[in-house]
Parts: sequence; structure tokens; C-alpha cells
Amino acid sequence: MITNKLIDKGFFIGALLFWGLFIVGCSTTAVTPNALNPQGSAAARIAELWWIMLGLGSLVYLMVVGLLVFGLWRKRPLSSPTSASHTSRRSRPFILIGGVLFPALILIIVFGFTLSVLADLNDMAEDDRLLVEVVGHQWWWEVNYPHQQFSTANEIHIPAGEPVQVKLNSADVIHSFWAPELHGKLDLIPGKTNTLWLEADEPGIYWGLCAEFCGIQHAKMLFVVVAEPREQFEDWLMAQQETAVSPQAPLAQQGQTLFMEVGCAECHRVRGAQAAGDLGPDLTHFADRQTLGAGIAPNTPDTLADWIINPHSLKEGNIMPATDLSEAELAAMLAYLQSLK
Ligand code: CUA
Repeated sequence: MITNKLIDKGFFIGALLFWGLFIVGCSTTAVTPNALNPQGSAAARIAELWWIMLGLGSLVYLMVVGLLVFGLWRKRPLSSPTSASHTSRRSRPFILIGGVLFPALILIIVFGFTLSVLADLNDMAEDDRLLVEVVGHQWWWEVNYPHQQFSTANEIHIPAGEPVQVKLNSADVIHSFWAPELHGKLDLIPGKTNTLWLEADEPGIYWGLCAEFCGIQHAKMLFVVVAEPREQFEDWLMAQQETAVSPQAPLAQQGQTLFMEVGCAECHRVRGAQAAGDLGPDLTHFADRQTLGAGIAPNTPDTLADWIINPHSLKEGNIMPATDLSEAELAAMLAYLQSLK
């Protein structure tokens, strides 16, 4: 009997520790976006709902475990003098309250809060002064500013403190747009446009990711939201609308010729140059971007060289073919791409 009790207690403590490990697993490092660290109004409402649900869930959990422990520890004579029908009659109110009324109450509260949060997320003025269109591709994000008529990739700039309308679409399969610190997830569905309002309270860089399995490199489909003070954002917007500057340095000029010759221009667009492909990201201001390969590597000469020579070593299965270049040609190509500011 004593041994059994010890085993029960050991199991109970073990279960608690295991649960604790799960919670520790949720803690984040500096680079992992955290939905519980909201930096925008939509994310704040969602985090609020999360805490309410955690609170209510914990309450139910503690009550159920408490009753279970009470039942296990309760001393009861081996043969009960009360008849079975008497026991069943006595437990009826308990079943009615604990099994019907209480769960219904909890579900109604959660449902009410959820409806209120959903209403808040949609309750934005229909003001499309600043509109961003995001198109999901396997495995990168096309980012269009239709009113300003330019396109970029994997990097969304917005003015801090202002809601920006983001329209979501997909060119192939279903993806899901999720910048946890700014907003909840929303799917990108081929043939259907979904809309959300993205807002960051403060200037900063907020990571986002694809949250719907979309193929072998789903995990390497990241993006950044760069929130800037209004003025800085306007400057960025103006600069992006410019066509690419023709390179002045001879090496970069050589790189530009190569870019057209070896096939890059078949898939990539560089506005102002003879490159109008639309299979891959627009590279007009590529050197301005912080990452390459949809957020998987910093945009540095070394990673760029790796990406050009063998894009599949960084991201297996992506449609960009490897480019066979000599060392001198690679240097020229890098010089050209880095001139695209
Ligand atoms: Cu796109 Cu997962």
C-alpha cells in the first residue's frame, strides 16, 4: 500500500516536472519572434486572448487535478454502507454543475472574448493610402507596392505607428503569413485575396515566417518587417521607385553584361536594365535588402557568392539553377549585384 502511494506521488511529481519542461521550451531567444511579446495593436489583442485562455485553461486543469487528488487521497471504508442508487442520486448535481454548466460557462466566456478580438482585428478604416501586396511563392515572398509601382522581396517596409493594409495572395500553393509580434497568422490562398492590417508601435525589425507547410523548404521561408519613422520610410519609398542605376565601375559593368548573358535576366527583373524576368525576386534594389534566400542568410558578398554558385546547398529544391562562373566572373557578378542599391 505504502509503495503504491509512493509510486503515485512519484508519478504526479514527474508529470509536473514534464509539464514544466514544456513551458521552459516556450522561452525564446533574441532572434525568435515571440507572439507573447506584442509590438503592435493586433498582436496585443491576440496575446491578451492567449493569456485569458491560458488562465481559464489552468483554472479548469487545477480544479480537475485537485478533485482527482482529493479522490485518490480520500479515506473511505472498504465496504460502503450507502447503496449504489443513493450514491448516484447524490452525485447528480455534481455532474450537472461540473459536467454541463461549468464547461458551458467557460466556453461562452472564451467564445465572447474571441469574437471581440476578431471584431477588433477587422475594425480598421478602409483607407488604402498605403497598400502592400504580398504574394507567396515556393519559397519566398514577393512584396508589391501597387500604388508606387515597384516590387521587392522578403522585406516589407512600413511606417511605424500606422496601420498598413496588406493583401495576401499565392502564386502556387497555400502559405501563411505570420509576423508573431505584429499580427496573427493569415493564409495566402491561390485565387483568393485575404487582407490584414499590419502595424508596429515602434520602429524596429520584426521577423516573420511562413506558418503553413508548403513544401520541402517551408521552414526556410522567412521575411522581415522593417518599421521606420515616417520620414525615413518616405525616403525608402522614393528610392525604391527609382530604376536601377547603371554601374560605373568597369567590374560591375562586366557583371551586368554577364547577368544578361548567363540567364539571370530570364527570371529576375532589374528595372532600368534589360532584365524583365518574373519567376524570381525583383532585384532592382537588391543590395538594399538585409537578407537573401527569403531570410535564410545575411546579404553579404560571401553568402551571395554561395547562393549564385550553388543555391541548393543553402536551400535544396528551390527553382534557381546553379550558375557556373569562373572566379573572375563571380567577382564581376558580385560587384554588379552589390551596385544595385
Ligand atoms: Cu510557404 Cu510554408
